[in-house]
Amino acid sequence: MDIREAIQQRHSVRAYDDRPITGEELEKLEALIKECNEESGLHIQLVTDEPKAFQSRLARYGHFSGVRNYIVMAGRRRLEKLDELCGYYGEKIVLEAQRMGLRTCWVGATYKKIPEAFEILDDEKLVIVIAIGYGLDDGKEHKSKKAGLVSSVNADSPAWFKNGVRAAILAPTAMNQQKFYLQKEWDKVSAKAGFGPYAKVDLGIVKYHFEIGSGKGHEIWA
Ligand SMILES: Cc1cc2nc3c(=O)[nH]c(=O)nc-3n(C[C@H](O)[C@H](O)[C@H](O)COP(=O)(O)O)c2cc1C
Repeated sequence: MDIREAIQQRHSVRAYDDRPITGEELEKLEALIKECNEESGLHIQLVTDEPKAFQSRLARYGHFSGVRNYIVMAGRRRLEKLDELCGYYGEKIVLEAQRMGLRTCWVGATYKKIPEAFEILDDEKLVIVIAIGYGLDDGKEHKSKKAGLVSSVNADSPAWFKNGVRAAILAPTAMNQQKFYLQKEWDKVSAKAGFGPYAKVDLGIVKYHFEIGSGKGHEIWA
């Protein structure tokens, strides 16, 4: 499966079986996380075989079951665009995980912090976590806003912009709020976050999808 197919097929999955992440999958995930940390300066950590974070009433209320592994998205509070970076690099890991047969769900609220399971230094902030594992199902497609509501796309837009926006509306966003706006400005694109919880994390996720869909690199951003 290539990464564009992963974008089409990824949906949030909240129920997992008890197969542990081991062997080649574990090695690949750890290598990718190390690479993302080096590139971004974030402190992303994979927590495996730790069921407590998702056993609380809150997690059950959030319809999670069988979550034993998760990715902690954290970084220095002073890191510029910390939330957006967590979104961007987290989604990079999510889509690679999808390609490896794993399923995921971004989780802002419905879990409990288990401090002994990971390390958050004094000057760091835990932004969000991502549940990961072998899904009991593949999730389902979310309802989506029309491309014209989240971007300046129109019939005359170049194919790269249309493809980028198409990938962006498949991105996961908190409560499926899709409160972002992508505006084409000549050969650049400006990406704006709306207001709302995790809007900046959403923006990072959306920017990663747009880059993949459009085939453009990070230099596309105005
Ligand atoms: C930043 C962020 C935070 C999220 N927090 C939660 C959460 O706390 N609980 C939950 O069940 N889903 C959470 N989600 C998953 C969204 O509800 C889901 O991505 C959205 O409904 C779109 O569905 P999809 O991921 O299947 O495309 C979160 C997603 C994002 C991007």
